[in-house]
Amino acid sequence: MMRQLDGNNLKIAIQRKGRLAQSSQRFLRSLGLEFEYSDGRLFSNCSNLPIDLLFLRDDDIPEYVQDGVADLGIAGLNILREQQARVVRLESLGFGACRLCIAVPNHGPLKCLDDLSGKRIATSYPSTLKGFLQEKGLRADIIKIRGSVEIAPSLDVADAICDLVSTGSTLRQNDLKAIGTLIESQAVLMGNPDSFKDAVKATLIDRLRIRVQGTLKARSTKYVMMNAPRSAMESIRETLPGMRSPTVMPLADQDMMAIHAAVPEETFWDVIEKLKGSGAQDILVLPVEKMVL
Ligand code: PRP
Ligand code: ZN
Repeated sequence: MMRQLDGNNLKIAIQRKGRLAQSSQRFLRSLGLEFEYSDGRLFSNCSNLPIDLLFLRDDDIPEYVQDGVADLGIAGLNILREQQARVVRLESLGFGACRLCIAVPNHGPLKCLDDLSGKRIATSYPSTLKGFLQEKGLRADIIKIRGSVEIAPSLDVADAICDLVSTGSTLRQNDLKAIGTLIESQAVLMGNPDSFKDAVKATLIDRLRIRVQGTLKARSTKYVMMNAPRSAMESIRETLPGMRSPTVMPLADQDMMAIHAAVPEETFWDVIEKLKGSGAQDILVLPVEKMVL
């Protein structure tokens, strides 16, 4: 039986269909939210938390959050920038990476940004594009189009386009190539500032943010297990800086120790090479599922 939206529940808006839809749902599930979804559904109640999910068009999400229809929302930074909605940007979520690019026909006369002067550029991001052109001192006509921007050049509605590029396959299919990037984008979590004034909602948002950070931190961390001679312990400890001391366990072989430690992704290879150099052997690396510090 379909339940109704509950006025007291925290409402989270995510994309119904499109690039971020699946990954937004997956992300919320990784935070421990349990909910059902089927095609065409507009909302869903979580079964284990006082949270309702709203499935919307991504372009509408910042406005719904700004107006308080939803307390939280997940959408691309690109949309947030374009709309300048009055929402609080809470977290970058590490998925849905894409770039807002200017693209031109592969075999046409336009080769670089300077060639755009006096030309027509079709886009669903007129405000971001306007800012970019001003910054570059370029004068071009902005043709505002809501969808399927990529076909504008072949219809001779525009000479170039400014649109999102993720895998690049849309550009390739339409014989276009990118010649400039306006912004790098990814999915972000945004919130309505007033939702933090409601004590119950604020507490729940805080709980979710701790879970978000735990999930994101885990993604950028590896769990490393290794064996090493006792004599190498000192230099191995020095190689694992900035972290709480590693777990060290004796092995049956009196001269050997087992060492476990969490290593951040950014310095991963440096650390592994140094560990090896110090005498670490049998190094095993595991992904970390969640990390709550
Ligand atoms: C963007 C863009 C392209 C596509 C590019 O649309 O408008 O159509 O993604 O992706 P690709 O480089 O992987 O081919 P988006 O997902 O934002 O859909 P929407 O405009 O309907 O919101
Ligand atoms: Zn969209």
